[in-house]
Amino acid sequence: MDKLLINGGKKLKGTIDISGSKNAALPIIVAAGILGQSKSIITNVPHLTDVKMLCSLLEKLGAKTHLDNNQLTIEPIDQTSYEAPYDLVRKMRASIYVLGPLLARMGRAKVSFPGGCAIGPRPIDLHLEGLKRLGAKIEVLGGYIDAHADSLQGTDVYLKGIFGASVGATANVMMAATLGQGTTTIRPAACEPHITDLARFLIKMGASIEGVGTTELKIHGVNSLNGTHHSVLSDDIETGTFMVAAAMTKGDLFLKGANRAQVQAVTEKLVQIGVKMSWQNDGVRIWVDRQLNPTDVRTDVYPGFPTDMQAQIMGLLSLVSGVSVITETIHQDRFMHVAELNRLGANIRVDGNMAVIHGVSQLSGAPVMASDLRAGIVLVLGGLAAQGQTLVSRVYHIDRGYEKVEAKLSAVGADIRRLNT
Ligand code: EPZ
Repeated sequence: MDKLLINGGKKLKGTIDISGSKNAALPIIVAAGILGQSKSIITNVPHLTDVKMLCSLLEKLGAKTHLDNNQLTIEPIDQTSYEAPYDLVRKMRASIYVLGPLLARMGRAKVSFPGGCAIGPRPIDLHLEGLKRLGAKIEVLGGYIDAHADSLQGTDVYLKGIFGASVGATANVMMAATLGQGTTTIRPAACEPHITDLARFLIKMGASIEGVGTTELKIHGVNSLNGTHHSVLSDDIETGTFMVAAAMTKGDLFLKGANRAQVQAVTEKLVQIGVKMSWQNDGVRIWVDRQLNPTDVRTDVYPGFPTDMQAQIMGLLSLVSGVSVITETIHQDRFMHVAELNRLGANIRVDGNMAVIHGVSQLSGAPVMASDLRAGIVLVLGGLAAQGQTLVSRVYHIDRGYEKVEAKLSAVGADIRRLNT
């Protein structure tokens, strides 16, 4: 298993190109591979393990995929198989995205029930309820979701759980409803940037969707969808992560391709903390020239502060003198990085869904272990800022969501290398 070895304490300086968004690319790939009736060409697709795993799943379902230089060509499924098996689904929760599209295109879907993961139990009741509202008959048998529908019928669908409107359920129901009969209204719908990008992609395929970018989506079913061309929007979470990398190393980075509107909650918070930022047409410059201020952060659905940036901002606040408080409201168990940050010398205490951070003046390198994607990247950030050597293990978590992470960081002055052990 690969590890990342970091000699910390270097200020990061230079330009980083922001990759395409993982969380937008995944449902778009599914839509192209299952809902489309002809070839799609998708550009700005990040080379990530999650993307490769999803392509393997689509191939299993009969699609053909070819990823070359961030361009993914997809020939859609041949409608012979509707089963997403356990050995592929268990590796990636986003495999659940095939459920709604398979039902809509083939009238049948058999998808392994995804398990929990390191950030909490992550149920899929809203996905299933939403599809049932459209008329699907769903049973869970032998660890599989077995779903049938002669046709899906448009109706009103409510997708809010105790943690807010579900991103994944919105994507699943929206994709299914594009090929349904009549009009489906999803209210409240998630309106994260990647959901908006998926909606734009579906519209290019021929879908009829109103309310894109809002919490109310109206989908008027059509008979068929065609393949299309699309460039995936830039990754808001990668952008936020490298903003934090600049701040934690007291560096000066230009993030090329960063999209201002997508990262507003994170930039507002960083500016409040005292991080300097200057937006230009093609990206944003980030630097630090003063002592930073502690703050409170509460994660929320878009346009609130994203849960996928919670670990990274905690890394930064662990180095800001004073007391900061982070409240996690989206995922039930997303503080696995706290114990590892404390191994690097941070002073963080967790109480329920709150973390209290007493800023320290310095982190010091140590061996640490990634437990999920964002909990992993914050250890890389900690290692970059720390004095001494940090060895991050279980890097496969980070490879699921950060394209060429060590190459991008080395190019701006980090001393980081991958060890194959
Ligand atoms: C998406 O996950 C993202 N994944 C996550 O990013 C992100 O953390 C999350 O949205 C919130 O923004 C992808 O886009 C592939 P949800 P998703 O359904 O769709 C509960 C990352 O680091 N819930 O909005 O699974 C659920 O347990 C990842 O890139 C139900 O109770 O998120 C969670 O507490 C991790 N029932 C909350 O809602 C359901 O049926 C939000 O989940 C569905 C969700």
